Amino acid sequence: MTTSGKTVSFKELGFSNTRDMFAKAMKGGYAVPAYNFNNMEQLQAIITACVQSRSPVILQVSKGAREYANATLLRYMGLGAIQMMNEMGNPVPVALHLDHGDSFDLAQSCIDSGFSSVMIDGSALPYEQNIELTRKVGEYAHPRDVTVEGELGVLAGIEEHVSSEKSHYTDPRDVEDFVKRTGVDSLAISIGTSHGAFKFKIKPGESVPPLRFDILEEVERRIPGFPIVLHGASSVLTPYIEMINKYGGKMEGAVGVPEEQLRRAAKSAVCKINIDSDGRLVMTAIIRKVFAEKPGEFDPRKYLGPAREELVKMYISKNEAVLGSAGKA
Ligand code: G3H
Ligand code: 13P
Ligand code: ZN
Repeated sequence: MTTSGKTVSFKELGFSNTRDMFAKAMKGGYAVPAYNFNNMEQLQAIITACVQSRSPVILQVSKGAREYANATLLRYMGLGAIQMMNEMGNPVPVALHLDHGDSFDLAQSCIDSGFSSVMIDGSALPYEQNIELTRKVGEYAHPRDVTVEGELGVLAGIEEHVSSEKSHYTDPRDVEDFVKRTGVDSLAISIGTSHGAFKFKIKPGESVPPLRFDILEEVERRIPGFPIVLHGASSVLTPYIEMINKYGGKMEGAVGVPEEQLRRAAKSAVCKINIDSDGRLVMTAIIRKVFAEKPGEFDPRKYLGPAREELVKMYISKNEAVLGSAGKA
């Protein structure tokens, strides 16, 4: 473990890597949820929801989450979650995953402290540099049985989406070469999703542009059976946006990926679907509601508790009705 100068394997901590999870998801036509967490309530909700709905789960930690919550504390929280789950009985497979790792050192630090899976995101680098960085992380991860996610193609931000959409999508002609030369275990691709709560710029009454399933199909044709990852896959659920706006927030124009498009993706080679913003929105909506309805409330448990309850419901609904991972643990 890093604090004592020693390293620890994810296997000693009870995590699973993503290899088996993805093999089963590919065969079963569903996607494993990858939910981000930064704090205790999110983590409790993710574990509770996935145990109740019998879904495997990938706990995602971003570089920002490590900076916010402290890397050592977060890793112990992950370990605590495994122990809590075992005590609840009937545990499900859990991976601890680095989300959007941007350097070899960060990936190495996570692997050494017990992560079972890492993403190395070289997607903003020139192609050859992306390959070099991703390959180097794989060389460190694989002897330790840690799985590696790479990325090809840049996820559009809303401005880029409008100004130059074509240059951001993954070019399917690159995928065989990238996968072969890096040795990655899964590949994140860009087919029109983006991070955050404002994914598309649409006028009232207009519908969201469809994801580029043609690119996904071409990728599947070129690397058959290879696990694909979808980032930026929050649906930005309308009830929570309405609740936020009703109780003093300001999120007009927030829009996400429609759930039926995610259902379609989950049945394909997409084996991992990343969701962070939807969890943030649920927490914000419920906390705003409690604050508005009970202005004298000052016990954090009285607003974080209801937020946690609502998060459990939202994650269960994702597993059951969108990703198809419920019952697959
Ligand atoms: O893809 C990014 C994730 O939503 C993590 O976001 O870097 O703000 O923690 P963050
Ligand atoms: P969202 O912002 O759509 O939740 O995407 C999260 C994500 O891709 C984390 O890597
Ligand atoms: Zn992402």
